[in-house]
Amino acid sequence: MAALRTTSRLFASSRPLFRPAVFARSYATVERDNPTTATGYANPKTIPETQTSDVAEPKPSDDARMKTFHVYRWNPDQPTEKPQMQSYQLDLNKTGPMMLDALIRIKNELDPTLTFRRSCREGICGSCAMNIDGVNTLACLCRIPTETTQQSRIYPLPHMYVVKDLVPDLTHFYKQYKSIKPYLQRDTPTEDGLEYRQSPNDRKKLDGLYECILCACCSTSCPSYWWNSEEYLGPAILLQSYRWLADSRDERKAERKAALDNSMSVYRCHTILNCSRTCPKGLNPALAIAQIKKELAAP
Ligand code: SF4
Ligand code: SF4
Ligand code: FES
Repeated sequence: MAALRTTSRLFASSRPLFRPAVFARSYATVERDNPTTATGYANPKTIPETQTSDVAEPKPSDDARMKTFHVYRWNPDQPTEKPQMQSYQLDLNKTGPMMLDALIRIKNELDPTLTFRRSCREGICGSCAMNIDGVNTLACLCRIPTETTQQSRIYPLPHMYVVKDLVPDLTHFYKQYKSIKPYLQRDTPTEDGLEYRQSPNDRKKLDGLYECILCACCSTSCPSYWWNSEEYLGPAILLQSYRWLADSRDERKAERKAALDNSMSVYRCHTILNCSRTCPKGLNPALAIAQIKKELAAP
């Protein structure tokens, strides 16, 4: 089960730093399960940069373009061991162009113990989300910088409990997703008994919303979510929430709005915009949150 928690300091120093504010938590949205095996927080200051035993390709050729990848490692079977960075060297001539290709080569050819999630390898499933060189992104959509002297650093998504290595625990994230009832709610049947139809204009309102793959890159880049994730829903879940508020076929708009109308669920967003900057699908969760605020302000 999840144990260590990654930290916001994984972000590049160009990103703004934020201090947690103290708020009266008068409204809860979703209670978080306390991981029973939690042992503390991973502080990168205490993570050794490299292990003594770096792993490289067995016989690099003369024209090899060797590049070093530093990867976050933590094993739940050794819970008292601190996380550490392990270094792997790969020949870019034999490696596909994306970070996920590098990770798959490491796992297949150098170190089968390395653990990460992936499925579609084309930016559809959202499972390979991680923090690469200081930015939350999808490993399958992230190109390996071809400059071989530039070393890459790969961490799990920031400020999440870690199941193992690059795998974050998304239990709370999905619990929050479930809480917004992410499905069509409607009582009135159509006159012809066929599907619920929309005008082209109403359908257009869902563009920029339905494409979200729930990778969690945005929520885990949001300082407000880092500090208030027990109660603040975060940009990914709020974008999904607006997707259903904006759907002309849904008949629970009032209930959906009432569930969001409290001091924590939405209003912990302070328009910092990390979310929109990091979304690997080019979506704009901050705009969706602004639309929710507008809807809540409307009589
Ligand atoms: S809005 Fe973008 S970053 Fe956020 S969960 Fe959806 S696809 Fe991922
Ligand atoms: S705009 Fe709101 S949701 Fe997005 S990063 Fe900033 S505080 Fe978080
Ligand atoms: S493997 Fe599916 S999004 Fe990367």
